[in-house]
Amino acid sequence: MATFNIWMNGRLVPQEQAVLPVNSAAVFYATNVFEGIRSYWSERDGEMYSFRLADHFARLRESMKMMRFTVPYSDDQLFEAVRTVVTGNELREDIHMHCVAYVGAPGLDATTQTGLYINPRKRPRVMEGNGLKCNVSSWTRTSDNAIPIRLKSGSNYQNGRLATLQSRADGYDQPIFLNRLGKVAEGSGATFFMVRKGRIVTPHSSSDILESITRTTLIEYICPQVLGMEVVERDIDRTELYVAEEAFFCGSGYEITPILSIDRFPLGAGDTVGPLTKRISSAYLDLVRGVDTRHPEWRTPTYKPVHV
Ligand SMILES: Cc1ncc(COP(=O)(O)O)c(C=O)c1O
Repeated sequence: MATFNIWMNGRLVPQEQAVLPVNSAAVFYATNVFEGIRSYWSERDGEMYSFRLADHFARLRESMKMMRFTVPYSDDQLFEAVRTVVTGNELREDIHMHCVAYVGAPGLDATTQTGLYINPRKRPRVMEGNGLKCNVSSWTRTSDNAIPIRLKSGSNYQNGRLATLQSRADGYDQPIFLNRLGKVAEGSGATFFMVRKGRIVTPHSSSDILESITRTTLIEYICPQVLGMEVVERDIDRTELYVAEEAFFCGSGYEITPILSIDRFPLGAGDTVGPLTKRISSAYLDLVRGVDTRHPEWRTPTYKPVHV
């Protein structure tokens, strides 16, 4: 697979030069915070659109604040860094990138001063076939007072890793987490939505979930304005999962990924993607690529040079 140059602390470097010291907290404890961002190539516009960059940078800053990291770059500098990644690698294809702030960069205070890198990569779709076979994990989503999932640190993702490995060992594709109260939280790296009694439902933001940018896009724009349906944000019980008509994960990486069964209970017809999931998925892909031209402020052009 082709490798791309990585933007690290101010310049593009080949992958083998983008290294972290083995004795840094960043390597040993995964003391970092990060964002997973997608950029979409639009053939029609000859442009790469990075989706909701400003919101990703705002969330990165919130994670940094909670970790008491100092913020080494302004938003303008971060926009410029993403642009450099896209133009410097001549990217004209859909790309996923990790934007990572970490402690332990040479020459910086190892407790709080952060280095930053942006690593572009191809990211295949999460599923093969029509959708995922999920299970309700026996691992509990870490709670806000222990290891908060709202704080997007690489170290917090060990919770998702344990659950995903268990799911695979047990013959499923992906886990669904319950939180400490026994209510549905989310997937390992994605937000959970279901359709129940004709309504679109998702766990509320105090359910030990990441405050997902895709979730907000669905709640504030796609469901009400494209589909004409409001999203209900509430507690979801485990047993509701088994009788839902449809379910899907969403996220920058997952986009809209249908779920076909949970604990082997088929949802809807069981082997096909439900009608609302299909409509939400195509509306989302239209939006991120600019086929749906509304909300241009969410699509930062990162390919063509910007001349004033
Ligand atoms: C734990 C977790 N939940 C939800 C999401 C979806 O968030 P977003 O839509 O902001 O990508 C992600 C993706 O980063 C995640 O890692």
